[in-house]
Amino acid sequence: MHSPLFISFEGIDGAGKSTHIAALAQGLQAAGRTVLLTREPGGTPLAEALRTLVLNEPMDAMTEALLVFAARRDHIERVIAPALARGEVVLCDRFTDATFAYQGAGRGFDTAVLAKLEDWVQGRAGQALLQPDLTLWFDLNPALAAQRLAHTRLPDRFEAQPQAFFEAVRAGYAARAAQAPQRFARIDAQGSLEVVWAAVKEALAHRGVRV
Ligand code: TYD
Repeated sequence: MHSPLFISFEGIDGAGKSTHIAALAQGLQAAGRTVLLTREPGGTPLAEALRTLVLNEPMDAMTEALLVFAARRDHIERVIAPALARGEVVLCDRFTDATFAYQGAGRGFDTAVLAKLEDWVQGRAGQALLQPDLTLWFDLNPALAAQRLAHTRLPDRFEAQPQAFFEAVRAGYAARAAQAPQRFARIDAQGSLEVVWAAVKEALAHRGVRV
């Protein structure tokens, strides 16, 4: 059996992580790994239903935080932890760093409360707190990210936020990265697809994973 590997992907809306998640899934599958590709909020029927609410219904920051953590708990219990127990690679489009960045830094919700929820939701009896082994943070200036988003679909509740919100979210990611420098790899998302992909591969190679 392979050793399990849990990788999360983060960044402000429009940073361009989606293409690289798909490429990484393909590369790892070609290398013989079983890959579970999933996302947050989401990944189970319950969590996907919560995602629709969080992205579309007006609500305050506390409700938002509680809903994303409820979705996360279900996702961990039913999907992420079982896949890791089977020795699979879990690629998760966003995880708890997004809650610190969006609900914490973006909405201004108390990060000490978020840290409590994190302990609660990601804690499993007799085991260390469940955290990604690696977090690829696609870092991009919000003005550029907004340009990239401008041509896609109708904005959701987050995408519709002003640039100042994304400046705060970006600072939230930077703070989380500074707290967990071993886990985080900052990817400069400004370059061409090829340049960013090379940076992704390099971050993985640095941790002994070849794609
Ligand atoms: P996103 O991951 O950008 O998906 P898509 O590519 O389909 O737009 O959208 C998810 C949104 O949810 C994003 O704006 C960030 C937000 N979000 C939070 O606010 N808190 C969280 O904990 C998570 C996981 C996501």
